[in-house]
Amino acid sequence: MTSTPLATIEGMPRFRALLGPTPLEEAKALSHHLGGPRIFLKRDDLTAVGLGGNKVRKLEFIIGRVLAEGGDTLVVIGGYQSNLARISTAMAIRAGLKVELVLGGVPGEPRDVTGNLLLSHLLGANIHYVETEPRWEFGSYVDDLAARLESEGRKVAVMPLGGATPEGIAGYVLATAELMQQFDEQQIAPSRLIVSVGSGGTYCGLVLGECNLGPSYKVTGISVSRPADYLRDATIAATAAARDALGLSHAPTVSMLDINDAYVGDHYGALTDQAREAIQLVARLEGVFLDPVYSGKGMSGLIGLIRSGEIGPDETVVFLHTGGSPALFAYDAARLLAS
Ligand SMILES: Cc1ncc(COP(=O)(O)O)c(C=O)c1O
Repeated sequence: MTSTPLATIEGMPRFRALLGPTPLEEAKALSHHLGGPRIFLKRDDLTAVGLGGNKVRKLEFIIGRVLAEGGDTLVVIGGYQSNLARISTAMAIRAGLKVELVLGGVPGEPRDVTGNLLLSHLLGANIHYVETEPRWEFGSYVDDLAARLESEGRKVAVMPLGGATPEGIAGYVLATAELMQQFDEQQIAPSRLIVSVGSGGTYCGLVLGECNLGPSYKVTGISVSRPADYLRDATIAATAAARDALGLSHAPTVSMLDINDAYVGDHYGALTDQAREAIQLVARLEGVFLDPVYSGKGMSGLIGLIRSGEIGPDETVVFLHTGGSPALFAYDAARLLAS
């Protein structure tokens, strides 16, 4: 029997939450406005659980493993407006797991319980606020919490920041196959796929999909926070480990990676003028919401590459919409609406 490149992933424990392929829809008005390439939106903001987003594909495998190993508690770390925290909590509830959210940021509890944080509260997550400096340095808090819960008889799994584990990466290798099927059905052969890059787990899965399944496109990652050099090194390490863990044949070399850090702005979460323009354009032309932290910056990268001519008017491109719109409610309205 010959095995397919996806045989190991397809045999991995999986807690299914997706209802089927997410839509791949053409953004005709946006393409027209930008004077050029055909743009398709892969609507991973519409994954079925907890208001959706890219994390659902990752969590199917992460939660699948926790359940297979007899875990009953998931510890998730992130910032106050973490999308992962919201979606993990929603999926864990469905899977019958308890969730402990360890959210880091400025000293003291956040003044405004809005956006993702409001939703995580509404879902009933047990939330620990930890003062972190630098931003993602949780010190020993998570280890101590896990040890305490274990001593109380709970079986704990701790998810690394962003869920960028081999299981988390598997979801976007499979998404590559889903996209290729949709390209066949819609008779298109996109030359680029654009995605925003935070922890890099989504990008790693897509790049592994690119080297192992051979879609028509090249993946371009738009960083929302970290320098491109750092992300390239991290991607090489994470994809090599994931290739082995996921039974794949190929992992990328540095020269295959295309990561752009020109759209980060001052720092993670800072609303850039380009992201604001992207959010407004896509809302007004397509009726689709992006967010200031991830998808807005990713789309500002796509717009920038089109305007600079790096993406030509005759190309066809896919923008992976990774979700995140609940964070809109935690931003200043006047700044989001400014022209
Ligand atoms: C809405 C949204 N888009 C994109 C990303 C980036 O994904 P990754 O961490 O896999 O790079 C995240 C991560 O938190 C996210 O919440």
